[in-house]
Amino acid sequence: MRKKLIAANWKMYKTPDQTREFFREFLPMVAGHDRDEIVVCAPDIDLAAGLESARGSKVAIGAQNVHWKNEGAFTGETSTAMLLALGVTHVVIGHSERRQYFCETDDTVNMRLKAALEAGLTPICCVGEVLEEREAGATDDVLRRQCVRAFHALSARKSEKLVVAYEPVWAIGTGKTATPEIAAEAHMVIRREAGEIFGDEFAARLRILYGGSVKPENASALMAQEEIDGALVGGASLDPKSFAAIVKY
Ligand code: 13P
Repeated sequence: MRKKLIAANWKMYKTPDQTREFFREFLPMVAGHDRDEIVVCAPDIDLAAGLESARGSKVAIGAQNVHWKNEGAFTGETSTAMLLALGVTHVVIGHSERRQYFCETDDTVNMRLKAALEAGLTPICCVGEVLEEREAGATDDVLRRQCVRAFHALSARKSEKLVVAYEPVWAIGTGKTATPEIAAEAHMVIRREAGEIFGDEFAARLRILYGGSVKPENASALMAQEEIDGALVGGASLDPKSFAAIVKY
């Protein structure tokens, strides 16, 4: 049985004060909730406030990106050592917004992923097709290519903590959710590819989250799919009530 992981991706929203306010409201609503793992991936500036607010709860705190070097002249970047020193346990890697707006490539995703795994962080590696690719019938090829390149030269043994998020780009922030069946089909493609790369046992344990307009109204239908091992939630994770409702789908 794969324990589901419900992850918030706050993107570029909230200040440290707003972070503390979120947790003041959110934590009582999910107290005692053990069925799923919960993580909030916040902007770097909010990580300390998030960790401090969530201390003693079961909510983990994640970052939204990490560099592959331990330190160096890389203005604006954050290293795994820095995240670990703070107490961060999770990190989103290769989000489509980073691929689209910040020149993230499959190769840099691979380097970030390797660094995160080596550091003992739990990476949430995002893959997903854009609308034109889906309409051209290329979804499976795109997902396979993204997996092959992202997982290049990673071993199953060192990748135990790997989590994948399937985020069809056409469903992100658009209100268009993939149907549970469409999502489950894509998850199967990813799981099969992970099986090719890491072996079937690894693939059977691998958690694959769905992301793209997950809301309290559609969360239970998505989570009912055996293939879907959790959610990566953008917009609907910013409000404590709506994120708590998703956690409790
Ligand atoms: P939305 O939930 O706002 O569509 O965003 C999804 C996402 O990109 C999560 O990483």
